[in-house]
Amino acid sequence: MDHFCYHNGVLHVEDVSVEAIAAEVGTPFYVYSRATLLRHYEVMRDALSGTDSLVCFAMKANSNKAVLSVLAAAGAGVDVVSAGEMHMALAAGFPANRIVFSGVGKTRAELEAAVRAGIHQINVESENELYTLAEVARGLGKRAAIAFRVNPDVGVDTHEKIATGRKENKFGIDWERIVPLYQLASGMPGIDVKGIGVHIGSQILDLVPFRRAFERVRDLVATLRASGLKVERVDLGGGMGIPYRRNINDQVGPEPRDYGALALEHFRGMGLQVICEPGRLIAGNAGMLVSRVVYIKKGETRTFLVLDAGQNDLIRPTLYDAYHEIIPVHQADAGAPLLPFDVVGPVCETGDTFARQRRLPPLEEGDLVAFATAGAYGAVMSSTYNGRPLVPEVLVSGDRMAVVRRRPTLEEMTALESVPDWL
Ligand code: LLP
Repeated sequence: MDHFCYHNGVLHVEDVSVEAIAAEVGTPFYVYSRATLLRHYEVMRDALSGTDSLVCFAMKANSNKAVLSVLAAAGAGVDVVSAGEMHMALAAGFPANRIVFSGVGKTRAELEAAVRAGIHQINVESENELYTLAEVARGLGKRAAIAFRVNPDVGVDTHEKIATGRKENKFGIDWERIVPLYQLASGMPGIDVKGIGVHIGSQILDLVPFRRAFERVRDLVATLRASGLKVERVDLGGGMGIPYRRNINDQVGPEPRDYGALALEHFRGMGLQVICEPGRLIAGNAGMLVSRVVYIKKGETRTFLVLDAGQNDLIRPTLYDAYHEIIPVHQADAGAPLLPFDVVGPVCETGDTFARQRRLPPLEEGDLVAFATAGAYGAVMSSTYNGRPLVPEVLVSGDRMAVVRRRPTLEEMTALESVPDWL
């Protein structure tokens, strides 16, 4: 969080005051630090530097074009999960040979777009996807580079909605079916089988499940090679957890260098390109959501801090009971008492609650607060529920700031809707 600090009692992103941004763009808004994005990418890249590797940012975590451009210019690859994301990635400057395409439900049209673009790798998740892709590629007179995403049946300790590596999850191909399928695909015109992929879940704070998954993948590579099959790449997916709470040591998550060392321990010297797909690790702590206190509402049993940001702007607390640190933009006086607040938004649902009984320094109506660790799965998961426009996104680099997605006008929000003339 080095690039989000107080200077003269006001929270800054790099060298720009959050208050100044609020004055310019209004609240709520997302703000990202370019230096943090770059640092996280570079730490991960360096952690894998002992072997041929490619760090592909999972852009589902943050698909803002400026954020993507920062990473594309730094040499990162990108993991996309739809033709829409692929289009955005290409537009932001990622070359096709640094794009991998994951996802369990790629349509024929999406596969066709990927083959036409000639991307680095399509991660195939089922037998039927393989047949569709082979047909598409042959139709275009091209060959599609693929990896098979296997389901390693490894459990992880994370929220059930974001665990992906167990048999009963929809992701990946069952372990037992991989070898014959790999064999079959290796002889298919239109298909160029490059290797194996896994992804076991997200916000994983412990290296043990990664170790188990990597061991299984290494064994699989050995089995495939022993059958005379060519394996040139392994894609280890994403999932590295990050700290959401300040000052709590048991929630910090693995260090990228330890994750990298684990990957190298398993795959170095095997003639493999090692791909990984971190999303949260790169973008999570590079962004905040800034909001203003609209009302302080004293109830009989609790005091509500009613903000102008709602669950439509940051859904994680509502959807996953996720914890985000809430930081006053004006630094509290040393020794100020901490008071319990229920921090809520304006959306007409009880679930529109960011935190219950959170102890915060005294706050007043009109004050600014920032939700930390909101750079991943924040803006991308927002909606216009309750007729609320998507909030602006701002990128800071040093003492420069730019609005990298502006707030739409109310007219723009309804521009795609029409009333049939028979009404
Ligand atoms: N690769 C694949 C195939 C994935 O499905 C995901 C995330 C990633 C990479 C990136 O995972 P990461 O490094 O960010 O953990 N909305 C949820 C997280 C959903 C993650 C889905 N897949 C949240 O807000 O916690």
